[in-house]
Amino acid sequence: MNFKKKGIFSRSVRSEEPATEEELQGGILAVWGSPGSGKTVTAVKIAKYLADKKKNVVLLLCDMTAPMLPCICPPSEIESEHSLGSVLAATHVTEPLIKHNLVTLKKNSYLTILGMKKGENEYTYPPYSEVQAKELLCELRKVASFIVVDCSSYIASDILSALALMESDSVLRLANADLKSISYLSSQLTLLRDSKWDADKQYKVSANVKPQQAQDQTVHALGSAAFILNHSQELEQQYLAGNLLVDLSLKDSRQFRKEIEKIVKEVF
Ligand SMILES: Nc1ncnc2c1ncn2[C@@H]1O[C@H](COP(=O)(O)OP(=O)(O)OP(=O)(O)O)[C@@H](O)[C@H]1O
Ligand SMILES: [Mg+2]
Repeated sequence: MNFKKKGIFSRSVRSEEPATEEELQGGILAVWGSPGSGKTVTAVKIAKYLADKKKNVVLLLCDMTAPMLPCICPPSEIESEHSLGSVLAATHVTEPLIKHNLVTLKKNSYLTILGMKKGENEYTYPPYSEVQAKELLCELRKVASFIVVDCSSYIASDILSALALMESDSVLRLANADLKSISYLSSQLTLLRDSKWDADKQYKVSANVKPQQAQDQTVHALGSAAFILNHSQELEQQYLAGNLLVDLSLKDSRQFRKEIEKIVKEVF
């Protein structure tokens, strides 16, 4: 066929992203839930999804007992390593201080991470208070449009995770269909009942659902869930290898990948 180069009609230029992704508003998403439910893997995959769509995203890792940075990517992929501890140790948390302490990655310029370094714990730095935690969350909004917070489960003792639940625009509440998750939630939700916690912004997620766990069994244990994240062997392997920023490409991850996409479109 012979197309005229300078016709009267302009060729439609297809945008790189579907319209729905252009419309993402951004904000702070806190990923929280029962211990070992999959908070970290879910937070990382959401952050990675957004960064792949060329959205600037900060992944805030609250765990000070087991710093998660070494579990997310190999040290060789980190361009510059800093610590969340240095940010919270300041009298006041400012935007330049946060920017200075972001962990940057060699292969992904849209994703930056703020977390504790390998070998550190909460006693490595002076204690911080609600003031620094609140300032951090507030200033992070200026640093990037998308903030994903990997909370720890222990909100009674972890000020940053507790504040993230209060200050975030939405919360994913993860649970596995087991007795420990149910016990955890009935214990911790009472803590939130008296605070400024807006229960309407939370989405229940049934996480790491294994094939033998029929969906109705999960629903029976946890009540209805807005999202269901199936178990993926490939994801488990990535976790064991400390390489969570690699794409999930196998068939067994398909449901998980699709659900992450659905979550992003719903919560942002
Ligand atoms: N969808 C999934 N598919 C496969 N494995 C999963 C999935 N979700 C969680 N896991 C596995 O469950 C374990 C715990 O995951 P993860 O560390 O993300 O949980 P967590 O809630 O952050 O734990 P913690 O309370 O210790 O912070 C890991 O071995 C991880 O690979
Ligand atoms: Mg975790």
